[in-house]
Amino acid sequence: MTKPAMRVAVTGAAGQIGYSLLFRIANGDMLGKDQPVILQLLDITPALPAVKGVVMELEDCAFPLLQGVVVTDDPNVAFKDVDCALLVGARPRSKGMERKDLLEANGAIFTVQGKALNDHAKRDVKVLVVGNPANTNAYIAQQSAPDLDPNCFTSMLRLDHNRALSQIAAKTGKPVSSIEKLCVWGNHSPTMYADYRFATIDGKSVKDMINDHDWNANTFLPTVGKRGAAIIEARGLSSAASAANAAIDHVRDWVLGTNGKWVTMGIPSDGSYGIPEKTQFGFPVTCANGKFEIVKGLEIDAFSQERINVTLDELMGEREGVKHLLGK
Ligand code: NAI
Repeated sequence: MTKPAMRVAVTGAAGQIGYSLLFRIANGDMLGKDQPVILQLLDITPALPAVKGVVMELEDCAFPLLQGVVVTDDPNVAFKDVDCALLVGARPRSKGMERKDLLEANGAIFTVQGKALNDHAKRDVKVLVVGNPANTNAYIAQQSAPDLDPNCFTSMLRLDHNRALSQIAAKTGKPVSSIEKLCVWGNHSPTMYADYRFATIDGKSVKDMINDHDWNANTFLPTVGKRGAAIIEARGLSSAASAANAAIDHVRDWVLGTNGKWVTMGIPSDGSYGIPEKTQFGFPVTCANGKFEIVKGLEIDAFSQERINVTLDELMGEREGVKHLLGK
């Protein structure tokens, strides 16, 4: 018997990540090859003609799983009865724009979208915020949706996780698929802390295999942290296909489970590892039955604590910068 369709909202549908993302969702890469979907696409009014062009292309793919597409500039329509919402659209940093102004512009978008999710989405909606600053935007949306479980709101650190996986695969000469128990702590920004201390390949410690603290501190972490900037430098545009791929990985694992494997998700802290509650922070998690769970009890050594403090301080600063938008 065919399953009922799941409704998936995607914001920023006319953008470059949208262009890499929508076709893969419609193809079943995110929710499963037996799961029909209805796409509910949101963008700002001037971008709607471009969204309609993308919809024509979606139609021309004749995806068997795609049961309908809604196009709108109204978040209340886009989020109506959605099971998943991928919040990709955000205000990019323009030339001369201060960080404060960026937080402010995005704060305005994510308070409105959080409220619309609160009012219209399914009660167990799975929200992934991709648009930057992703962690703080997710925090704002969550705080604007008091009737939804805070755990409905997550932010994307999976691209950092995947970047770290491929750097370790290259360093060790082992396939990406053999690496387990890697994680990335903190903010989706160059301050994030990719941590391979617990990682294993075929049961062996990656830390022991690499055995090079200098490579960790001075090559690995800066390479992963500055990868986004390196891609802009090379391509003249920010990462799009890899960001879309990471979004697919994140939601797929959340919905379908990880079979005990660790992945990284930005989620509201439950106070673990001294991270203040509700802070959207990258943690190692496992997923089962549509829920994520933080991997607890990991030892945090002095170097790691220092790194975690840096990324947490940055997030707390961002949170302070948007406090007034949340009436705090
Ligand atoms: P883009 O500029 O190509 O597209 C953004 C789209 O969002 C545009 O179509 C724009 O009209 C739309 N938009 C703007 N305001 C909106 C609103 N209020 N409601 C709905 N749509 C709105 O940007 P791209 O490359 O697709 O990136 C999107 C976001 O993802 C950016 O903020 C980028 O920094 C972020 N990003 C995050 C990553 C992560 O790992 N978390 C990785 C890569 C990008």
